[in-house]
Amino acid sequence: MKQNAGRTLTVLVIAMIVSLSGCIPTKTVRTNADRLGLTFGVAVQAADVLDPKSMKLMISNFNEIVPENTMKWGVIRPLKDFWNWSDMDNMVAFTEKHHMRMKGHTFLWHNQNPMYVNALKNRDEAIALMTEQITTVMGRYKGRIYEYDIANEVLADDGSWRDTIWYRTIGPDYLDIAFRAARATDPDAKLLLNDYSNEVKGQPKADAFYELVRGMKERGVPIDGVGFQMHLSADYPVDEEAVRANICRFADLGLTVTFSEIDVRVKLPVTPEREAAQIGIYTKLMEIALSEPSVKSYVMWGYTDLRGWIPQFFSGYGSAHLFDRQIKPKPAYLSLKKQLEDWVK
Ligand code: XIL
Repeated sequence: MKQNAGRTLTVLVIAMIVSLSGCIPTKTVRTNADRLGLTFGVAVQAADVLDPKSMKLMISNFNEIVPENTMKWGVIRPLKDFWNWSDMDNMVAFTEKHHMRMKGHTFLWHNQNPMYVNALKNRDEAIALMTEQITTVMGRYKGRIYEYDIANEVLADDGSWRDTIWYRTIGPDYLDIAFRAARATDPDAKLLLNDYSNEVKGQPKADAFYELVRGMKERGVPIDGVGFQMHLSADYPVDEEAVRANICRFADLGLTVTFSEIDVRVKLPVTPEREAAQIGIYTKLMEIALSEPSVKSYVMWGYTDLRGWIPQFFSGYGSAHLFDRQIKPKPAYLSLKKQLEDWVK
C-alpha cells in the first residue's frame, strides 16, 4: 500500500515536470492530427497572421496554412515590375515560428489575374512569364514552402480543357512546362494539380481529370499529388464508394490526394436537419482522409462564418465553416475534434 502510494507520487511528479517542460503536448486538434500523420490545414487571409486571436486559433488547431488569396498572381504581382512580398513573407515566417507547414496557392488560374497576364498574346511570351512567376516565387521560398498548387481548375465542367489565358496562348503542354519549371526550382517541394468536381469517380469531369493526370505521369511530368477542393453542399451526401475508388486510382499512379479547400455550405436558414447533414459530410470526409493512406491532407477553406466566399458565390447558402461569426466552435468543429480524439485512442 505504502509502496503503491510512493510510486503514484513519483509518477505524478514526473508527469508534472514533463508537462511543465512542455515535452508532452496537450491534446489539441492539431496535436491529434500530428499524431495521426494528417495535415490539417486552413486557408487564411493576410491579416489572420497579424491578429492575436486568430493566430491563437490557428496555432492550436491547424498544422498547415494556405494563403487564401495572398499568393494569387494579381495579389502578389499586381504589376509586371512590382512584387507585393510582405504578406506572403509574413505568412511563411508565421508558419516557421509555429512549426506549421506552408502551402502555396496558386500559380496558374483563370481568376484573379492582373491585366498584363490576361493581355498575353503569344506562346513564347506566355511561357517566359509563367516560368518567371514560378521560379521567382519558388526560388524566394525554396525549402520553406512544403507544397504548391501549381495549377488550379484547368478543366471545364464537362471535362474539356478550360479556355484560359495559358491554354489559349501556350496550348495543352502548359502544365508540363509549369510542373517541370517548378521541380527544377525547388526539388523538395510537393507539386499538386488542384480542381473542383473531380472527386467522384465516374463523373465526366473527374474521369477527364484522372486521364489528364495519368497522361502527365506517363510523360514523366513531375507531379506529386492532386487536390480535390471539396467545396460541398449539405444538400448532397458524399458518394463514399466513388470517392474512395477515385483516391485509389490516383494512389495506383503513385500520387497523394489532398482535400484541399473544404467547406460545406448549408441552405439558409440553418435547421437541425441541415446542420446534421453538414456534420455528416465533414466527418465522412475525415473518415476517408484518415483511412485512405494516400490522403495526406484535410484543408479547410477558411475557418469562420464571419468571413468567407460562400454567401457571395452561392446565393442563399452560408454557415459553411467550423467557427461561427463570433469565432466560437460550432457542432461540426466539435464532431471533428472528437473524431480525431477517437482515432488517436
Ligand atoms: C476564393 C477566395 O476564397 C475568395 O476570397 C476570392 O474572392 C475568390 O477566390 N477555388 C479556389 C480558390 O481555388 O482560390 C477560391 O478562393 C475558391 C474556389
